Amino acid sequence: MVTREKTERQTVLVLDFGGQYKELIARSARGLRVHSVILPGSTPAEEIRALAPIGIILTGGPFSVYSEDAPKADPALFGLGIPILGICYGMQMMCAALGGTVKPCEVSEYGVTEVRTVSPCVLFEGVGSPMRTLMSHTDYVSEVPEGFKVTAVTENCPCAAVACEERKLYGVQFHPEVERTRGGKRIIRNFLYKVCGAKGDYTMDAYIESTVRAIREQVGEGDIVLGLSGGVDSAVAAALIERAVPDRLTCIFVDHGMMRKNEGEEIRAAFGGRSLRLVCVDAADRFLGRLAGVTEPEEKRKIIGEEFVRVFEEESAAYEGCFLAQGTIYPDVIESGAIGGANIKSHHNVGGLPKESRFIGIVEPLRGLFKDEVRELGRKLGLPESIVGRQPFPGPGLAVRCLGEVTREKLDVLREADAVFREEMAKGGVKADQYFAVLTSVRSVGVVGDFRAYGYVVALRAVRTSDFMTCEYVRVPYAFLDRASKRIVDEIEGAGRVVYDITGKPPATIEWE
Ligand code: XMP
Repeated sequence: MVTREKTERQTVLVLDFGGQYKELIARSARGLRVHSVILPGSTPAEEIRALAPIGIILTGGPFSVYSEDAPKADPALFGLGIPILGICYGMQMMCAALGGTVKPCEVSEYGVTEVRTVSPCVLFEGVGSPMRTLMSHTDYVSEVPEGFKVTAVTENCPCAAVACEERKLYGVQFHPEVERTRGGKRIIRNFLYKVCGAKGDYTMDAYIESTVRAIREQVGEGDIVLGLSGGVDSAVAAALIERAVPDRLTCIFVDHGMMRKNEGEEIRAAFGGRSLRLVCVDAADRFLGRLAGVTEPEEKRKIIGEEFVRVFEEESAAYEGCFLAQGTIYPDVIESGAIGGANIKSHHNVGGLPKESRFIGIVEPLRGLFKDEVRELGRKLGLPESIVGRQPFPGPGLAVRCLGEVTREKLDVLREADAVFREEMAKGGVKADQYFAVLTSVRSVGVVGDFRAYGYVVALRAVRTSDFMTCEYVRVPYAFLDRASKRIVDEIEGAGRVVYDITGKPPATIEWE
């Protein structure tokens, strides 16, 4: 949650020109203990001056600076005396605005590209040259504005970074905010600390304080209902909202019949003892009834999203003027295509919300955060490790791991296979950030004793990731897979064969649907 008022705390502004990494830039600043706020690229210079940021970062964007619809910063921005770092399109737009020239590249650069520094620049201190950077551009700055110098080049691009030290204006053609740019964090740190004079006064405590204030402002005297799924995100959102408006939060745990083995009991045990009101609803019949015959993943997600809201509405009927709270985090928003990107899958809490509902507003205090930040926040709020360290579990539950039509029979097989796999993973001490079983809709022939068997193919998946936006599959030892596979096929009726998923994200996603 961001507020537009000036704060005592130092703030860096991220001006958005449509690039897909704006939240990563804001998050990099937060990780470096500098408060960051994202505002539209067109925000007037006067408004920006009033906010008194210590620095401004201009994001990339998919435009060409000379095209008609290209978004531009207010030209007065460059005369405010505030340090500016332009990234990719942000650098080109700044250079064009100050009298430089931008042209199409002879050779466009996409992917990891080596950048060599050609002139000393404070941004590159401690980074080394050449650097491996992520590039994605078809235009470049062919003439720098007066007072600027080129500070880095690539094999194909004679202008990969620029600086006008006197005016504290800097630009980089590559993306320092992504992990694939080695030393990118150092470049942003240099800008914030060496150019902007950051003191590092932004901490998780400060985030809690400003978010608590924002929640109170948003809901006023209203009540809040929050869907508790048992995953980390909704638990942390509950703890944060509980801190803001302790007596007005009701948490509803909807058992939609697609929870993992023992999950319902675990959630009751973990949350039952807290000061918030916890309502548990057994809604398995109505969810499974609506999903009967449905096989298309997006349709399944939409139905579940809608049914969730209907249950929440019914359970919250006693409260007038009620808000719905959700533990939506930033990757959910990006993947649902809610902010201009492509729709990869509608996370039930983003794309699945029906247009008509009786809630007067949505409270999403984690919407700008990434998973690792959410865990850190949860620890700060005093949640136990058993909750904060939990694996993510998607809101639609096992429905997105039970491929094709969801039936009770398939869910039973899946639930047992998943429990065996998780038990073995815990016993074997295999390191993974998320691991689970998937029940494919494929059945295969086998032989049990002297008889023909025809059971489902179970897929196992274990991944390493920190942000859940990308992942690598875990190289699980064969001996371990062997044990898990034998147990699944021996112990679970209906499971006929076991396979292990060795696909990363991208191109796959973590869940199968
Ligand atoms: P994907 O499958 O998109 O998953 O690579 C990324 C992370 O998000 C979780 N996930 C969801 N979480 N509602 C959620 O709350 C959803 O609809 C949903 N779909 C996926 C997934 O388990 C992984 O951790």
